[in-house]
Amino acid sequence: MTTSPTLSIRRFDARDTDAVVALWQQAFPEYRDATRPQRNPHLSIANKLATQPELFFVAVLDERIVGTVMGGYDGHRGWMYSLAVDEALRRHGIGTRLVAHVEEVLTSLGCPKLNLQILSAKTELRGFYEALGYRADAVVSLGKRLGALADAAPAA
Ligand SMILES: CC(C)(COP(=O)(O)OP(=O)(O)OC[C@H]1O[C@@H](n2cnc3c(N)ncnc32)[C@H](O)[C@@H]1OP(=O)(O)O)[C@@H](O)C(=O)NCCC(=O)NCCS
Repeated sequence: MTTSPTLSIRRFDARDTDAVVALWQQAFPEYRDATRPQRNPHLSIANKLATQPELFFVAVLDERIVGTVMGGYDGHRGWMYSLAVDEALRRHGIGTRLVAHVEEVLTSLGCPKLNLQILSAKTELRGFYEALGYRADAVVSLGKRLGALADAAPAA
């Protein structure tokens, strides 16, 4: 007898690190760009484990990490980051499930609005988020790098 695999979403655990880094390197080309030292997946994970680690989630299928998403809530706005699905498993609703999971958890924390940013080069992503009810805000997103890489790298 065979059973079809079921997808589950759970909190990130430090033991997931290698699988998550491999997934991000596949999903985010900027993580493979040696000229962008600010894109350091190990540092992103370490920072998240130090700040609201309970809002870092992985999607697991057959005991394999197939997706990730990070949330954040500062008491005023929620943010979503690092949404990624294994290339071989896209268009099966896993991305939608991960977004719904973060929305549910942030809603339960009282978060009134969830924001996200898309790199402007990734035009195809607009359709994905718009189908989930996200709309472009009439804002210009500004950023400034702080700390050791402040002068070395552009903000995005
Ligand atoms: C964006 C991403 C997470 C979507 O994951 P996914 O599991 O494939 O998404 P879903 O299967 O839930 O897609 C739901 C719907 O969104 C739309 N959609 C998803 N990917 C799309 C794409 N690349 N282009 C246009 N529409 C898309 C479709 O309408 C899709 O429904 P359909 O398959 O029935 O047509 C995935 O493509 C990914 O990991 N991309 C690389 C990393 C990235 O850029 N992340 C976003 C950072 S802001």
